[in-house]
Amino acid sequence: MPPSKVSVLGNAILFLSALTGAQESEIPTFEHHSPPAYPPPIGTGDGFPEWSEAYSKAQAVVAQMTIAEKVNLTSGVGWEGEQCVGNTGGVPRLGIRGLCLQDSPLGIRFGQYSSAFPAGVTIAATWDDDLAYARGFAMGVEHRGKGVDVQLGPVSGPLGLFPEGGRNWEGGGSDPYLSGIGLASAVRGIQDAGVIACAKHFIANEQEHYRQRGENAIAINESISSNVDDRTMHEVYAWPFADAVKAGVGSIMCSYNQINNSYGCQNSELMNGILKNELGFQGFVVSDWQAQHGGVATALAGLGDQNFYSANSYWASNLTGAVINGSVPIWRLDDMATRIMASFYKVGLDKDRVEVNLDSWSTDVYGYRHYFAQEGYGLINGNVDVRGNHATLIREIAAKGTVILKNVANALPLQKPRQIAVFGSDATDNPRGPNGCPDRACADGTVAMGWGSGTANFPYLISPLSALQNKAIADNTVIQWVVDDYATGHMKQTATQATVCLVFVKAQAGEGFVGVDGNQGDRKNLTLWSNGEEVISTVAANCNNTIVTIHSPGPVTLEEWIEHPNVTAVVYAGLPGQESGNSIVDVLYGLVEPGRLPFTIAKNAKDYGVSLMYEPDNTYAPQQDLGGLLIDHRYFDKHNIEPRFEFGFGLSYTTWKYHKIVVRKTNAGPYVPSSGRTPAAKTTKVTESAESLLFPAGFTKVRFYNYPWFNSTSDVKRDGENGPSDAYDPNGTATRPAGGAPGGNPGLYDILYEVNVTLSNTGKRNGEEVVQLYISQGESDDPVRVLRGFRRVSVNAGKSTTITFTLTRRDISRWDTTTQNWVVSPAEKMVFVGRSSRDLPLVAKLNGGKKSIGYSKNKPGRQGHGMKTFM
Ligand SMILES: *[C@@H]1O[C@H](CO)[C@@H](O)[C@H](O)[C@H]1NC(C)=O
Ligand SMILES: *[C@@H]1O[C@H](CO)[C@@H](O)[C@H](O)[C@H]1NC(C)=O
Ligand SMILES: *[C@@H]1O[C@H](CO)[C@@H](O)[C@H](O)[C@H]1NC(C)=O
Ligand SMILES: *[C@@H]1O[C@H](CO)[C@@H](O)[C@H](O)[C@H]1NC(C)=O
Ligand SMILES: *[C@@H]1O[C@H](CO)[C@@H](O)[C@H](O)[C@H]1NC(C)=O
Ligand SMILES: *[C@@H]1O[C@H](CO)[C@@H](O)[C@H](O)[C@H]1NC(C)=O
Ligand SMILES: *[C@@H]1O[C@H](CO)[C@@H](O)[C@H](O)[C@H]1NC(C)=O
Ligand SMILES: *[C@@H]1O[C@H](CO)[C@@H](O)[C@H](O)[C@H]1NC(C)=O
Ligand SMILES: *[C@@H]1O[C@H](CO)[C@@H](O)[C@H](O)[C@H]1NC(C)=O
Ligand SMILES: *[C@@H]1O[C@H](CO)[C@@H](O)[C@H](O)[C@H]1NC(C)=O
Repeated sequence: MPPSKVSVLGNAILFLSALTGAQESEIPTFEHHSPPAYPPPIGTGDGFPEWSEAYSKAQAVVAQMTIAEKVNLTSGVGWEGEQCVGNTGGVPRLGIRGLCLQDSPLGIRFGQYSSAFPAGVTIAATWDDDLAYARGFAMGVEHRGKGVDVQLGPVSGPLGLFPEGGRNWEGGGSDPYLSGIGLASAVRGIQDAGVIACAKHFIANEQEHYRQRGENAIAINESISSNVDDRTMHEVYAWPFADAVKAGVGSIMCSYNQINNSYGCQNSELMNGILKNELGFQGFVVSDWQAQHGGVATALAGLGDQNFYSANSYWASNLTGAVINGSVPIWRLDDMATRIMASFYKVGLDKDRVEVNLDSWSTDVYGYRHYFAQEGYGLINGNVDVRGNHATLIREIAAKGTVILKNVANALPLQKPRQIAVFGSDATDNPRGPNGCPDRACADGTVAMGWGSGTANFPYLISPLSALQNKAIADNTVIQWVVDDYATGHMKQTATQATVCLVFVKAQAGEGFVGVDGNQGDRKNLTLWSNGEEVISTVAANCNNTIVTIHSPGPVTLEEWIEHPNVTAVVYAGLPGQESGNSIVDVLYGLVEPGRLPFTIAKNAKDYGVSLMYEPDNTYAPQQDLGGLLIDHRYFDKHNIEPRFEFGFGLSYTTWKYHKIVVRKTNAGPYVPSSGRTPAAKTTKVTESAESLLFPAGFTKVRFYNYPWFNSTSDVKRDGENGPSDAYDPNGTATRPAGGAPGGNPGLYDILYEVNVTLSNTGKRNGEEVVQLYISQGESDDPVRVLRGFRRVSVNAGKSTTITFTLTRRDISRWDTTTQNWVVSPAEKMVFVGRSSRDLPLVAKLNGGKKSIGYSKNKPGRQGHGMKTFM
């Protein structure tokens, strides 16, 4: 996540304070450690049909490469060394240009003539995987059109454990199953468009505070450690990444934080063990920008590509040297390069690859291609318009991802009201323009995306007020407004005249490298920004039909005003992107059916049962315990806490009746733990002479650029670091029992049950319902219910439909830490279907289950919950 130019200075200042501020001088001992997992598994595509052709091509081309060429592919050229936010070296001899890696998960960061799509949280709120695919494909087409090879998205880390988490909005909702489906759909869409997707941030990157040294008011020596137990890692944080791997994702970005006191980009258990062995990941791992904290050790732990430093790289010539002196086996370098090239071929980058025609560092048409060095003057921004007709899709997603939370007295849909009054700065344009705040780091005007690297330039931004005004004119409605959040006197006067008062309020969040109003990425509270509560109470006191729309990156607390009798409707509109105003008009006027919450809205912030760490518990390496399985709604269910609006909730414009649930057990075969070994490496001797690794005679260097070569042969024989000896074993390692195929053991994806439900639209309007399926696994240490299916369906008024869900073995399994595999516990399992996590009219038993006698070996004899707890 590269900081913007503006914030680099800010970081430098913070870093100075880091140097002078930290207190600790001895390394404290911490409880949590990450186990070693070596050697790094080799990607070969063997047994992975969807990768085999790509691997044949990749192996053939890498076989032709020299060490320096392979190193080049894996190494970032340095910050602002080329036009994309990340750029690797190329292999000019073989006609291969270096890779262009570009933010963001919602469009092209720094792009011009490109679209600003709805954020992850809004696509998640549609609960529509076809739309998620379509969004991914459209974003992929735009990236491809600009010459981008790797789109740095989609996101499911953060997953959203902390409602205040600064980057939750980039991801797909605070539930691993929902997030996983969204991640996989986006990956398929992006890659079908011919661009490598990069699922990120791997892993447990749940907060911005202390994710990096030098970014915080209080100095720390090492990044925060997210401490996660093995079961939670599998059932919660790694779950979505398994879906992405199954969908064929070409790259995964390791995160800034530590996990169990081992850096994300150096954690062998996560990269070698879980990702490459257990999940069978065949693509490459790329470090977050400056998230690499070691050379040899990171290579051996499975890192494949790094991308930040300028003339100061753990890789480039350092990696060449490490290979030459044996610190990194040559087969590991081959594997890195092969994995990169396999992803390249898999998405078809060998065909019709587009020249890079965007520039991240300048909006000028002509400028320096090597911006940091101020060298290579020429055409840098081709300004190719890649938007196509994506505006239509953007508007549809934003509308379908808008959630109606309250609607009484027929407040919605609006029907040609006589007079509308619009309130709040969130209704209107940022006076500095849609891109006026660098990296969108402000909350001026309407909020349509968060801030940080996960942003894109708006090609335009339709504010709610401008769209409402157009609609009002068409309907002969009178429309007035007060968009100064502090002009309460004027609000009163305007509110009393209107038949409908539309209040727009907001909250904002973003990436930790920049703070807004004291929110250093993470929000410091869950209340509204810009005097939002007072705007609502002022208007509601004077207008008996007050409709509140919220633009925010996640939950906000509504208790102060939600029950006000004059607040007739409340709408959560997420972060809608460039078509914001048009999409909110579509929902308020009932032209589009709304979405459902991808997280819980609590009555009180403390009800989530978690605490984001704003003050470090120690200044060496803050220790953040991510707790267990009970993220978001699971916590509320387990502790019987009444939320204001539960996960999955959202009102429809029509009424629905659920009737009839039929469960059929399939005759899937037994589950077979995987055996065998990960592929053995082809061990070759390093034959290249030191002389061949020197800069070619007459080579013109770009200043500050990272090259794979040395200046003189005396530089070549550096002492390497010594990694663990297992790391050098070329014979591979035992395949983990839960491994064996992309996304894990293929048996996990066997369908064990089919569940049919019948749904009727009993209202007078055609509508769309999000049918949700939850299951209870039945053991005392299981969550009460977990989401395991959903379908957004369209049913005409008076009509019925049957929906078929399938449940895989993975869906009904739990992670067993002893056997290191998924198991179906003996407890009785129930399936629930309905319209939210707490409104589940259909219930049935999954047959074959028995009443629990307590699964957990650690807690013998404890009673399972059965049905009582939640019925
Ligand atoms: C932590 O950082 C401070 C400030 O840079 C330094 O004085 C101290 O030695 C560091 N502690 C350790 C254990 O490295
Ligand atoms: C983290 O530590 C816990 C025990 O505290 C262990 O169960 C888990 O496997 C570890 N995970 C990783 C990735 O290190
Ligand atoms: C490494 O990449 C850079 C930039 O594309 C290029 O100038 C250089 O020739 C490459 N080196 C090798 C060994 O191909
Ligand atoms: C090699 O890595 C070291 C840090 O380990 C760094 O100081 C040095 O600048 C790197 N060399 C190059 C040429 O990037
Ligand atoms: C919460 O944070 C926002 C944004 O910084 C601020 O406007 C608001 O006043 C804060 N709320 C409270 C109750 O302090
Ligand atoms: C509701 O609005 C009306 C004006 O339409 C106002 O007279 C009344 O006091 C308001 N109710 C409350 C509880 O503020
Ligand atoms: C608001 O007050 C007006 C005038 O008294 C009344 O006609 C209307 O029905 C009220 N609206 C609501 C939503 O109560
Ligand atoms: C479920 O519905 C599908 C499609 O209507 C049908 O083919 C299947 O037989 C049904 N299964 C059961 C168990 O009713
Ligand atoms: C080569 O020499 C230049 C200029 O002295 C220096 O900046 C650079 O770090 C050297 N490169 C390596 C790989 O040692
Ligand atoms: C790898 O296997 C070969 C052939 O079986 C054997 O000779 C060699 O010792 C093994 N290497 C290691 C590190 O186990």
